[in-house]
Amino acid sequence: MAFSDTQPLINKNPVLQSYYASLESRIGYRLILGGTRHFGYYEPGTWWPFPVEKALRRMEDHLFETLNLPAGSTVLDAGCGYGHVAIHMAHRKLNVRAIDVVERHVARARINVRSAGLEKAITVQRGDYHHLEDIPTESLDGVYTMETLVHATDPEAVLEGFLRVLKPGGTLVLFEYAHLFPKDAPAASSKLFEQVNEYASMPANAQFEPDTLVSILEEVGFTDIQTNEISEHVKPLARLFFLIAYIPYLFIRLFGLEQYFINAVAAIVAYRYFDMHRYLCIRVSKPRTADGHALEPKKVQ
Ligand SMILES: C[S@@+](CC[C@H](N)C(=O)[O-])C[C@H]1O[C@@H](n2cnc3c(N)ncnc32)[C@H](O)[C@@H]1O
Repeated sequence: MAFSDTQPLINKNPVLQSYYASLESRIGYRLILGGTRHFGYYEPGTWWPFPVEKALRRMEDHLFETLNLPAGSTVLDAGCGYGHVAIHMAHRKLNVRAIDVVERHVARARINVRSAGLEKAITVQRGDYHHLEDIPTESLDGVYTMETLVHATDPEAVLEGFLRVLKPGGTLVLFEYAHLFPKDAPAASSKLFEQVNEYASMPANAQFEPDTLVSILEEVGFTDIQTNEISEHVKPLARLFFLIAYIPYLFIRLFGLEQYFINAVAAIVAYRYFDMHRYLCIRVSKPRTADGHALEPKKVQ
């Protein structure tokens, strides 16, 4: 898996960079999730969320099973964070090309990949999933995202890029959030949600209602769309985040410090208004033409 020598194109996104640079993000994720940055997978109704690490790995198993690709397939991990998901995929014999837009995440992912002895199976590069120009057309068997598309400033362009780099018949899997705030939702819920989207740099989260991603995927040109909602499976960890954040949150509100402790605010809004949130696992395919070749991505207007 060769990379070009040119610098990758990276959209300037100072809010995203400062969100991930904040002490709250760095320490919080490290202490609670060991540096992984996604939800764990539990049986619905589970009250005791420990050990968290096992639940994180179960979520990665769920991703691997959803991808359903044979050993030796090459996949893109778009928004790889510290590389834990990529490492789990490589342990299951996938080759992974991992990219992340935050330099510190890339550096940490490389260290983790080296410690796992998986340098041959995983390459890690700084990259923005809005700009996959570096990746040849129709070169990958699969692409996945794990809890990152909410950060996209142009989700349509991202999905068009994924379609381009996939081989005909290739698979895209998205494990992502959506929400549905009814018109009569308490004003406080919408205000907190807006704060989370603004300070954690999640513009697409404001846009993603349960059907939004599916509509964009169809418009871009993906087929065989399968959606599985697993919100109840992530509830135990959402509850744990809520309990940890609750007392600090009272002080955060009192002193108006939401901007600096936005993960605590997110923990409150995600669990207090749990019914308005959805955790979606979406699997789609790139269509084949009669001659086995790919169709051009449809341009989303
Ligand atoms: C919530 S974390 C998930 C990380 C990883 N997938 C995991 O499950 O541990 C979201 C990740 O997406 C990355 N990210 C955000 N916007 C990105 C972009 N435009 N291109 C590539 N990575 C991006 C962030 O830097 C962060 O590492």
